[in-house]
Amino acid sequence: MSDKIRLQKAIAESGYCSRRKAEQLMLDNKVKVNGNIVNELGFKVGPKDQIEVNNILLEKEEHVYYLINKPKQVLSSVSDDRGREVIVDYIDEQRRIFPVGRLDYDTTGLLILTNDGEFSNAMIHPKFEMSKVYDVVLDKIVTVSMIKQLESGIELDGFKTIPTRVKIRNYDKNKQMTNLTITLREGRNRQIKRMFEALGVTVVRLHRKQFGFLTLDGLDINEYRRLKPFEVKKLMQAAQVGER
Ligand code: URA
Repeated sequence: MSDKIRLQKAIAESGYCSRRKAEQLMLDNKVKVNGNIVNELGFKVGPKDQIEVNNILLEKEEHVYYLINKPKQVLSSVSDDRGREVIVDYIDEQRRIFPVGRLDYDTTGLLILTNDGEFSNAMIHPKFEMSKVYDVVLDKIVTVSMIKQLESGIELDGFKTIPTRVKIRNYDKNKQMTNLTITLREGRNRQIKRMFEALGVTVVRLHRKQFGFLTLDGLDINEYRRLKPFEVKKLMQAAQVGER
């Protein structure tokens, strides 16, 4: 497999600017590879190529990895044109980090942020099936037949969901609500909410508490920490072998 990537991606990964800005710099003839101006957007570079932007030689940026317990009413995003809070603002980091996958605006819990595109792709690639565990509060008493449907797969957008594991934590008979834990091995848009919607049940609260082997132990809501190198390695290994 080729380890070459597009020039604009390599520039963005160095932390110099965004990919889009890099494309503009290329079109403005401000980018050189091994001393030659390159303005062709499809141009690819490898690890040994020397890239200069505005005559500054780019260094490879050190990769960083964070784990945060995301609060409610924050976007899993790097910016928002409607001025809503975004998760990267919760982390004191000068490098251009971004969330690995996303949690909905009102979902709380475990989110990883990094500036390592390859790591991010490995974590969210459907082929690798990283398991994700969520605590869910629902507005109804969930029946055994509903649990069976959730576990065997529910059709969303014409495709059945991969079988899940569901564990009831408790029923609140007075309020007619259910607390349960669900384990997913895929990450479609609003997947849990849509799976329950298909059964006529509304998700009242959603919290991700585990991603692969990673948990939020020791992190309250809003708190974050750097991932340890062995944790990053273990996640990559788990993704590569198709974690079970
Ligand atoms: N499923 C959802 O519906 N929302 C999330 O934020 C995560 C999983």
